[in-house]
Amino acid sequence: MGGVLLRGFGWRHAGRRAWALRGVDLRVEAGERVLLLGPSGAGKSTLLSALAGLLPEDSGEQEGLVEIDGLDPRKGRERVGIVFQDPETQLVMARCGDDVAFGLENRGVPTDEIWPRVDEALHRVGFPYPRDRNTAALSGGEQQRLALAGALALRPELLLLDEPTANLDPAGADLVRQAVARALDADTTLILVEHRVAEALPLVDRVVVLEPGGGVRADGTPEAVFAAHGAALAAEGVWVPGHPIAPRPATAAPGDLLLTADRLGLPPRLGSTDLAVRAGEALAVRGPNGAGKSTLALLLGGLLRPGTGRVTASAELAGTDHRTPPHRWRAPALARRIGSVFQDPEHQFVTSTVFDELALGPRRTGQPEAAVKETVAGLLERLRLAALAAANPYTLSGGEARRLSVATALATAPRLLICDEPTFGQDRRTWRELVDLFADLRDAGHGVVAVTHDADFVAALADRTVTLQRAATSDGPADPAGDRAGRPAIQPGRDDIR
Ligand SMILES: Nc1ncnc2c1ncn2[C@@H]1O[C@H](COP(=O)(O)OP(=O)(O)O)[C@@H](O)[C@H]1O
Ligand SMILES: [Mg+2]
Repeated sequence: MGGVLLRGFGWRHAGRRAWALRGVDLRVEAGERVLLLGPSGAGKSTLLSALAGLLPEDSGEQEGLVEIDGLDPRKGRERVGIVFQDPETQLVMARCGDDVAFGLENRGVPTDEIWPRVDEALHRVGFPYPRDRNTAALSGGEQQRLALAGALALRPELLLLDEPTANLDPAGADLVRQAVARALDADTTLILVEHRVAEALPLVDRVVVLEPGGGVRADGTPEAVFAAHGAALAAEGVWVPGHPIAPRPATAAPGDLLLTADRLGLPPRLGSTDLAVRAGEALAVRGPNGAGKSTLALLLGGLLRPGTGRVTASAELAGTDHRTPPHRWRAPALARRIGSVFQDPEHQFVTSTVFDELALGPRRTGQPEAAVKETVAGLLERLRLAALAAANPYTLSGGEARRLSVATALATAPRLLICDEPTFGQDRRTWRELVDLFADLRDAGHGVVAVTHDADFVAALADRTVTLQRAATSDGPADPAGDRAGRPAIQPGRDDIR
């Protein structure tokens, strides 16, 4: 059971001119394990939503046929389990056990069966905590395993996983994949969306590639599909093994100092951090989960007041404001100097169209409307968002939303850009565009700081790496200004610099 049939299937979301997906013919037999590929915006998530019965008839226009075991998916929702990319949006209850039980209660499972099934599901995903653990205290990887347990408790015949590890650090992603491998039984059908093919291959026996304009481009064993389509897929955004990406080293030595952090205290339970950012330099900040990387990004971005230590902007960055710390600058001044890109782009959007989102910063900094239009048009073009100018930011696919969040930060032309995990969950094409965009900014004399787990990104872009430790940092090369002699928190030596 759990067999899927699509015939000429298409879906157009209400309010969109373009079809999210069209002309898809596909049959998946019960028990098959399919990796579903296609560039960002090809309609992968839309296809999984259709199979999960999550596209109500009045939410768009349908063409063709979609069936699970001969039934409309909207009528057979108990057969399907789905896990999405963003762990936070999927958990509904305060306690872990209740969260898994919620779906069972919803489906009217008899009370005496609920808790045994909850425990079994938690066990299958290797969940390390008791049922009463608070969901808010879980790491992203633990939240995803809990979401997976919630799906498995329903004993689905068809399991749909939409980039379940895209928002996780490498260790968390690994644990989730192990949980999937362990939890699948022989007759569960799996459809997995994942840009990073190498990691996904052990879980699947078949690869299906969606063609962005419509239809299915390739369908077969991984070997056959990658032999015939590997290079084209790599060019379009899929991470295919054996197709590396060329790095973008700096073309000139770094310039003036822009920002320094001195003895910044990073919660929780951490030592202090010192670092310096220069114009024309791309600095990567790495470190284990819980090392305070996102906090550091907020502090450097002037969005948080340091508890201990200080952030100092140079006169080069701040002009006459350089004696005032960035967190005390007025918003328009901050926006012109330091741009921030957050880890979850959705938390950043505040207007109802892509155009307004991009216009917001320039309008706030007092640009005349004609200049605003020109700035926005340029960014829409550069970030491949022109066709989506009127779309609601919250309806964008993951790659589109990420590009919008970066474009938003760039709209006020800040000298320094601070990004928190800018490449999380991105397909290779968006990834490549982000590397090129940041490299261009750096080569034009901007400073770029990226807090990231992405080792490929660091190798492609970073001129210098700072590694946060649980007790301290080690900044890369010795600081030319020599302003840190004798500081106890510094550990000398550079870390994986090109
Ligand atoms: N709820 C929605 N409302 C309107 N448009 C949407 C919605 N969800 C997705 N889209 C659009 O449908 C297209 C396909 O998106 P999606 O299925 O998310 O692609 P993928 O998962 O392959 O990246 C995109 O252009 C996206 O902006
Ligand atoms: Mg998607």
